[in-house]
Amino acid sequence: MMRSESRALQLNDDGQLKHFLTLDGLDKTILTEILDRADSFLTMGEQSVKKVPLLRGKTVVNLFFENSTRTRTTFELAAKRLSADVINLNIETSATSKGESLLDTLQNLQAMQSDMFVVRHSDSGAAHFIAEHCTPNVAIINAGDGRHAHPTQAMLDMLTIRRHKGQFEGLKVAIVGDILHSRVARSQLQALTTLGVDEVRLVGPKTLVPGFFSEMGAKICHDLEAGLKDVDVVVMLRLQKERMQGALLPSESEFYRLYGLTEESLSWAKPDAIVMHPGPINRGVEISSEVADGGHSVILNQVTNGIAVRMAVMSMAMSGQLQKAETDQGSEGEK
Ligand code: NCD
Repeated sequence: MMRSESRALQLNDDGQLKHFLTLDGLDKTILTEILDRADSFLTMGEQSVKKVPLLRGKTVVNLFFENSTRTRTTFELAAKRLSADVINLNIETSATSKGESLLDTLQNLQAMQSDMFVVRHSDSGAAHFIAEHCTPNVAIINAGDGRHAHPTQAMLDMLTIRRHKGQFEGLKVAIVGDILHSRVARSQLQALTTLGVDEVRLVGPKTLVPGFFSEMGAKICHDLEAGLKDVDVVVMLRLQKERMQGALLPSESEFYRLYGLTEESLSWAKPDAIVMHPGPINRGVEISSEVADGGHSVILNQVTNGIAVRMAVMSMAMSGQLQKAETDQGSEGEK
């Protein structure tokens, strides 16, 4: 999908978010608005009453065609803290039956008068497909589609970086591991570039970090020491074995030896570098336990920040849809 097309699909006539499918085509102003709003929800999460009525009377359906624990739970908590009614649907499906079964499911759920779908699917483009086919005024939030995009994950990572480093200007960020199969890496790269960091390095073996990523504004490194040298932020990624076809790796132990984040390899980064990981982490494959549980790790902060970011995105998309509904009704009335 072209940048301009995804912009048109995601924003209403006033330039406000109405779906959240990809970071492609969204500018710094919108991304900053998400982060600012999430920051205010974070403060709210520390209080004893954690609810606001922004989605009261709305029904949110968590539509998960691919399994997930963290993402689904934090979306559910976010919706509940916004006072929505939430339904969780885990639908195992095969990629081949995509088109029809997806539309059928959608039509049934729409008949139940849902206001928002949070969609995770193993096919790249599934959330866009649903956004194009759903009835007007229903908001679609992408919770990860194939290897394409995972925009709320990237935004919770941006919130984590901003809260620890203060700003994006001047930062060097390394994303290490299986970039090829990672929707997280793709969305992070878009977010980091839009928010104006100095440098994004994609680090890993040639088989998992192909050269074409340099066209998206990243520096490619096949050597861990060069990749981590003087970075402010290290993002480790899991080997996405479920998406690998054929042998892309010699072995897990070989991968760990060459690209694993240990106390030794972390020492190549800046002394105050933070270590992030979207989870699930594989100890001894891409990261050592010492580093995962150590003082540089902000992995659990990412999870907490995920609730606030999801609250921000859901409330913004719902109000973008409602404003559109009011405008539509207004112009009908004028006819
Ligand atoms: C990521 C995902 O599902 O894309 N996890 C997550 O959302 N927390 C990354 C992964 O599965 O490795």
